[in-house]
Amino acid sequence: MKAIGTALCAAGIVAALLAFFWKDPFDPESLSGARVLLTGASAGIGEQMAYHYCRFGAEVVVTARREAVLREVAEKCKTLGAKKILYIPADMSSPSEPERVVQFAVQKLGGLDYLVLNHIAANRFQMWDGDVEYTRRLMQVNFFSYVALATAALQTLERSNGSLVVVSSLAGRIPTPFTTSYSASKFALDGFFTSLRHELAMQKRNVSVTLCILGLIDTASALENTRGKVYMTASPAPEAALAIIRGGAMRVQELFYPWLLQHVCQLWVLFPSNRDRVLQSYYNYSSP
Ligand SMILES: NC(=O)c1ccc[n+]([C@@H]2O[C@H](COP(=O)([O-])OP(=O)(O)OC[C@H]3O[C@@H](n4cnc5c(N)ncnc54)[C@H](OP(=O)(O)O)[C@@H]3O)[C@@H](O)[C@H]2O)c1
Repeated sequence: MKAIGTALCAAGIVAALLAFFWKDPFDPESLSGARVLLTGASAGIGEQMAYHYCRFGAEVVVTARREAVLREVAEKCKTLGAKKILYIPADMSSPSEPERVVQFAVQKLGGLDYLVLNHIAANRFQMWDGDVEYTRRLMQVNFFSYVALATAALQTLERSNGSLVVVSSLAGRIPTPFTTSYSASKFALDGFFTSLRHELAMQKRNVSVTLCILGLIDTASALENTRGKVYMTASPAPEAALAIIRGGAMRVQELFYPWLLQHVCQLWVLFPSNRDRVLQSYYNYSSP
């Protein structure tokens, strides 16, 4: 009993010391005046990122397809004290749009410090139905446009020792049911941008690449897609947005949100037996 008391006391002292000396490595000041191009910013996590960046004093260009909604987001950013907020409507299913959007942002902001790639095409959360054309469309928006945006921005980012932030998903690390094409597009991001990170380091080009692996987040589209189909709790979008921004600002290679996902991914690799049955038990499917 005495030994337990001593151990608890020691643990308490260590925790108190850690809390006292721990310094948050994220400095919000570092984002003041930062030049940010943010995609998929008319809704969900992207919209929340726009608000955070503006609160932190960044100069931001937001993009998505719907101009009227982007205008509303920009208006709200102004009420939050945005230093500079501009928007450009663009459809990333068109191969010429990425370059146009990057050129606009570079011209309006005078360069770029962050390129935050976040948009996704509308996703069908269902069993694979054989629609190859849908997969092609999804790959164009969720993957090829990311490659094109990053390529168009790389030289500018290099000049500012900037950062590429790529929003991915647990479905890009662990293949999950109902997400065949979406999962494929996120695995593609993981492969491309992790390889690119190696190449940039080998060429001593100081552009950081942060890959963000997110679990289920309570955006309207995700909740609608997954309703009645998964047994999982969604995490809040504003918190996910902040986690991504922090990860990018601290130039971490991989950001997991919620943080527990990092351990889920490790366990997935360490314990291959029975893992499929455990995973499937989180998904609701009754055969027709
Ligand atoms: N929510 C989740 O549970 C979850 C989980 C893991 C990972 N993620 C990742 O987090 C990111 C954001 O997800 P979210 O849930 O916030 O998405 P969302 O709410 O559905 O928003 C998607 C954004 O992409 C834009 N968009 C859609 N099609 C487009 C196109 N063809 N061209 C340009 N922009 C387009 C949409 O705006 P317009 O309609 O105006 O174009 C919107 O701004 C994604 O990369 C997603 O994979 C989300």
